[in-house]
Amino acid sequence: MRFFIPLITFLLFTLIICEAQNKTAFSGDTNVQKALPSMRSDVELFESCARCHTIGKGKLIGPDLAGVKARHSEEWLINFIQTSDSVIASGDTSATRLYEAYNKLPMPRHDYSRDEVKSLIHFIALETRKSEADPNFLDNDFSFAHHSNTWPFIIGVLFLLFGILDLAFIKLMKFKFVNVILILAGLTISGKAVTEEAIYLGRSQGFEPDQPIKFSHRIHAGENKIDCQYCHTGAGESRYALVPSADVCLNCHNVIRNGPNTGEEEINKIHEAFEQGIPIKWARVYSMPDHVFFSHSQHVNAGKVECKDCHGEVEKMGRIQQVNDLSMGWCIDCHRTRKVQFDNGYYLSYKQHEDLLSGKIKEVTVEEVGGLNCQKCHY
Ligand code: HEC
Ligand code: HEC
Ligand code: HEC
Ligand code: HEC
Ligand code: HEC
Ligand code: HEC
Repeated sequence: MRFFIPLITFLLFTLIICEAQNKTAFSGDTNVQKALPSMRSDVELFESCARCHTIGKGKLIGPDLAGVKARHSEEWLINFIQTSDSVIASGDTSATRLYEAYNKLPMPRHDYSRDEVKSLIHFIALETRKSEADPNFLDNDFSFAHHSNTWPFIIGVLFLLFGILDLAFIKLMKFKFVNVILILAGLTISGKAVTEEAIYLGRSQGFEPDQPIKFSHRIHAGENKIDCQYCHTGAGESRYALVPSADVCLNCHNVIRNGPNTGEEEINKIHEAFEQGIPIKWARVYSMPDHVFFSHSQHVNAGKVECKDCHGEVEKMGRIQQVNDLSMGWCIDCHRTRKVQFDNGYYLSYKQHEDLLSGKIKEVTVEEVGGLNCQKCHY
């Protein structure tokens, strides 16, 4: 009895810790606060809209902005957000209709740059997806959520404790090797549970969550050679690469109704999601902490860095896996050695550019244009 009271206290304690960890596992996933150094963050940008608009929580002074991307073209949105009065004055029908519907209340001008407005539009789209996401959809029958390791951990610890306590005090087991087996089994089971939790929390290299639909990059980008940017349309022009919505899948899967490995089952889920108008909740694999800025377009477009330099050979992956640790050292290592592409007009103002043209220097690394400055990557 002496042993059981501390034992039970210990187990309750570990249970509480494990549950707390599970709760925090996804909460770091706010991909909304990143900005290019020169840009204000999306959250900051949206602050001045929030007086009059919500995203998915009904109309205030202006309309609910959920799904606004589907209602207008990007060009229209940029113009309207920057200078709604001139769009209305130009006689644009949908602008005038809105203006009438909202009691001829003019929306104020915003001195946001084009890039900022574009980024804000992506932000509204991401927030729309969050606001529409039905937590019960699609992940009931497919375990996209992370498996809890609480029970394996507790069972492992029980084995371990019993093995040790019995060996030292209780002495129920006749043969000592039974205790050794119990201790080893306990160590293995609890150790595995702890490493899995650690990987999940740190979302480190090797992170490979289950997805709500068994989408395979090997079949799409590999065997069928579909271009990465056909689906990840943001990679070349915005800070987010973006994951495609169901209507992009249906460009092909309206016709292709049968998969080579999964038959109709997985493809039917796309149709189900589309018909119900509910976004597919893909589990996020790559993710940066909130204090770091990262922009795809800067790397893919300006820097001509290939997807595989950062994401590995995605076209060979069935299920997507994180191949780099996304640590600061990883970013810096590449910036130290990688050459800047000067042909993109971005660096015409740099003094190195003249030296490069005159042949005085052969090449310039990212480091030499400031790629190691703390504030380029941090707020
Ligand atoms: C003072 C209130 C106010 C503020 C601030 C404001 N809006 Fe508006 N917004 C409106 C009103 C009112 C309308 C309806 C059209 C009209 O009356 O001009 C509107 C319409 C819109 C529309 C078209 C919506 C649709 O359903 O078609 C978009 C997009 C929009 N606003 C985006 C923004 C963004 C982005 C910001 C912040 C940068 C912002 N608004 C700030 C009042 C505001
Ligand atoms: C047919 C559309 C399609 C094509 C083509 C495609 N992807 Fe994807 N990609 C997706 C979907 C859907 C997801 C989300 C599901 C998943 O993670 O498997 C995704 C996820 C990813 C992720 C992980 C995103 C995260 O959650 O962090 C990366 C990285 C990625 N793709 C890179 C690539 C690269 C590189 C290529 C080209 C070699 C490519 N993709 C081609 C549709 C596509
Ligand atoms: C450009 C065309 C195209 C797009 C876009 C596309 N697919 Fe596919 N998909 C294919 C082809 C081709 C196959 C293979 C069919 C075959 O080999 O019989 C396939 C197969 C599949 C399969 C079955 C895989 C298996 O092994 O059984 C699934 C599931 C699937 N796609 C999901 C998606 C999802 C989800 C999206 C959107 C993110 C998407 N596809 C977008 C062309 C496309
Ligand atoms: C310089 C490294 C680098 C390159 C090159 C790169 N990525 Fe990424 N990618 C990242 C990082 C870092 C993240 C995590 C970003 C975050 O959390 O904001 C990421 C996230 C993603 C995501 C997750 C969702 C999102 O919208 O950001 C997808 C999808 C993706 N990348 C696809 C691609 C594709 C496709 C390409 C090539 C066209 C590409 N990436 C090129 C580093 C890179
Ligand atoms: C595989 C190489 C590679 C990796 C990995 C990489 N970068 Fe870069 N990065 C580049 C290149 C090349 C450029 C220059 C792009 C250009 O020409 O503007 C760049 C530019 C930048 C800039 C702009 C710097 C400036 O001087 O304006 C930022 C910010 C940045 N990267 C952040 C990151 C972060 C954060 C990570 C890690 C998550 C990262 N990068 C990982 C290659 C890389
Ligand atoms: C090329 C981009 C880049 C540059 C330049 C850079 N960092 Fe970082 N930094 C990162 C990334 C990415 C992380 C997140 C790493 C992680 O989560 O493991 C990070 C993480 C950190 C952290 C740890 C925060 C934490 O949560 O653990 C500190 C502190 C930090 N950076 C300080 C600096 C300082 C000081 C400088 C200037 C000398 C600097 N960084 C320059 C990309 C950069």
